[in-house]
Amino acid sequence: MRPIQEFDEIGYWSEIKLEIVRDYAAAYSTILTKKNLPHVYVDAFAGAGQHISKGSGAFVPGSPLNALNVQPPFREYHFIDLNVTRVESLQRIAGCQNDVHVYEGDCNEILIQTIFPTLHFESYRRALCYWTRMDWT
Ligand SMILES: C[S@@+](CC[C@H](N)C(=O)[O-])C[C@H]1O[C@@H](n2cnc3c(N)ncnc32)[C@H](O)[C@@H]1O
Repeated sequence: MRPIQEFDEIGYWSEIKLEIVRDYAAAYSTILTKKNLPHVYVDAFAGAGQHISKGSGAFVPGSPLNALNVQPPFREYHFIDLNVTRVESLQRIAGCQNDVHVYEGDCNEILIQTIFPTLHFESYRRALCYWTRMDWT
């Protein structure tokens, strides 16, 4: 099996998909902010935070970096990945922002055991959970 690289190379359709998710996150955050509802972003298969475009060879922001740039901002960010190299890359992107939480491990466990229990309906905290593990094209 091919070893996982720090950054994936992604094709044109994946770049479009990232733009759609970014625009959806911005609309979601705008609406929830207007309703005065605290909202968090959860990326269950976060990756390294950025990728390399097959077309241009340039870095392309991945879903975590796009989420961090959304305005108005989310209250918190939760990024999960199984791969330690990608987790280290996410930690570099997060820097010392204390509203960003990076987890190394299986999202199927971390979501249920650690993240979802903090999102009670009664607390009015809402979350956009991006949970897709598609292979890049
Ligand atoms: C296609 S990449 C994610 C790209 C990112 N969501 C984006 O849109 O920029 C998929 C990632 O899921 C991670 N992964 C696979 N299975 C996982 C699991 N069970 N829990 C957490 N991460 C997982 C892999 O290590 C890989 O970095």
